[in-house]
Amino acid sequence: MPAEELRFEHHPFQRIGPDVHLIQDVQFALGQPLCVPINSAVLTGQEPVIIDTGSPRNRRQWLDDVFSIVEPEDVRWVFVSHEDADHTGNLETVMARCPNATLLCSWALVERFSCVYDFPLHRCRWVADGDTVDIGDRQLAVLRPPIFDSPSTLSVFDTRSRMMWATDTFATAIPGTPGSALTQDVRELDQQAWRDGMTLFGIHGLAPWVSMADPCRFAANVTTLQRLDPSVVLTGHSPPIHANRVDEACEILGSLAEAPVPPCPDQSVLDLILAAMGD
Ligand SMILES: [Fe+2]
Ligand SMILES: [Fe+2]
Repeated sequence: MPAEELRFEHHPFQRIGPDVHLIQDVQFALGQPLCVPINSAVLTGQEPVIIDTGSPRNRRQWLDDVFSIVEPEDVRWVFVSHEDADHTGNLETVMARCPNATLLCSWALVERFSCVYDFPLHRCRWVADGDTVDIGDRQLAVLRPPIFDSPSTLSVFDTRSRMMWATDTFATAIPGTPGSALTQDVRELDQQAWRDGMTLFGIHGLAPWVSMADPCRFAANVTTLQRLDPSVVLTGHSPPIHANRVDEACEILGSLAEAPVPPCPDQSVLDLILAAMGD
């Protein structure tokens, strides 16, 4: 099988609760038996919501998954957290296929992504940290997560299911090779590997600025998220973090500003990867 086919494969969506669904995809790591989840979510309440739109590479499967959960014309809201390709990959298709959907996003997202997508501004609703959006049988509380890789980044908290969509926060690599089962809960992870993965991704893959942040102020932002008491934290790049692991996840994240900076993969690592590939 060609390598490019090996690196992506389908994993069925995970039903997190009666009205919360996690759309799953993975990206395999180079040279390591690891992968990174590429998640998005669907809320099926009175007014269904698509939360982030996956990656373009997984388009066909992502659309099949999402529209097996909710009919396109029933989608009332599309929330897009920020402009990265793994969150906006199917935005244009979704807005075209879901004529009754309003796009929830930040002003900064439109400002930064209009060179890629011609936003239907009359179908947009700009939201910001601290806003709430009434979606019929619940509210979406909008907040800026403690760690992010774009100034446009927002997260949402569903007041009914108490699901937190934390966007890129808590990102980590997890064990995974082509054909292996996908980790479905962070409790399956080795504790030290989870800490190391979140630290490496947090500092080198997401927010190098965190090492310059005031540790107390940064930790206080994490505590703000923790105090919402989520029943589950879903993120773009981690298995689900259920309530019994949220404190541990927040402890790891909250210490990131003062964590020793791990080495970042450099040319010597690339040389090893290329050697392993036989190039
Ligand atoms: Fe991102
Ligand atoms: Fe991401």
